[in-house]
Amino acid sequence: MGKVRKAIIPAAGMGTRFLPATKAMPKEMLPIVDRPTIEYVVQEAIESGIEDIIIVTGKGKRAIEDHFDTNFELEENLIKKGKFDLLEKINKSANVEIHYIRQKEAKGLGHAVWCARKFIGHEPFAVLLGDDIVQGEQPCLKQLMQQYEETESSIIGVQRVGDDETQRYGIIDPMANEGRRYQVRHFVEKPERGTAPSNLAIMGRYVLTPEIFDFLGKHEKGAGGEIQLTDAIQKLNELQHVFAYEFEGKRYDVGEKLGFLKTTVEFALNNEEIGEDVLEMLKELIFKNEEVRDN
Ligand code: G1P
Repeated sequence: MGKVRKAIIPAAGMGTRFLPATKAMPKEMLPIVDRPTIEYVVQEAIESGIEDIIIVTGKGKRAIEDHFDTNFELEENLIKKGKFDLLEKINKSANVEIHYIRQKEAKGLGHAVWCARKFIGHEPFAVLLGDDIVQGEQPCLKQLMQQYEETESSIIGVQRVGDDETQRYGIIDPMANEGRRYQVRHFVEKPERGTAPSNLAIMGRYVLTPEIFDFLGKHEKGAGGEIQLTDAIQKLNELQHVFAYEFEGKRYDVGEKLGFLKTTVEFALNNEEIGEDVLEMLKELIFKNEEVRDN
């Protein structure tokens, strides 16, 4: 069916979990140390070999477009000041074409993906969700794209979560597996606590065949009254194989406060410029905290 060349990044969500920070700023622009979260995701797509990206935006998301656009004044200013290291940092996504489309109503993830159907046309494509950042030796999406080349079937990235977390994710009901790749009986979106068929959760990375749009186009509502991507994947699975792949790499949940903070601390500790100082700062904070507790 051909190569996976295009990717959709849905970024239309309202970011209510981060209010009031996201009242006037897209949640995708919240920085992890010094890079907005969406840049990590765009970077993963580029490193996986994606040539064209479409970001599905919505109301109040202009800052995302500005971020990936050229800023001549800023660039000239940095050149004049000889700050070439910073210049390099702001041009990180120059090797990829980024397009935008607006989702006019917040009808759910499935609907956001459907909004990009004309850009995709009739070829396989990737979806990357901005709430998940994955770091590892091989980009997560690249692993899925390699699986796609072997199977010519849709592949969904999964990882294991605890029993108390399954209700927050799309969960697979696995059948036979070949190494990390699973055949799947069912894909269920946010199963009620205690009813999940496994602990293998969908982690925001997908390679899909274009037939998915036939199901998304039906606009059927699922969990939370929204048009769910997972439901369309399940319908697709009844028509053609959809595999799940337990990818390698560490996944960071930047879609909720504590996960965002943990990611920030870990990335700051690994940062060349400030890592050591951050470690000292943390040690001091812990020391002071213990002192207060002991008194
Ligand atoms: C979405 C998907 C869900 C997936 C999750 C991963 O849910 O619908 O299947 O497990 O992303 O982050 P959301 O977190 O947007 O509610």
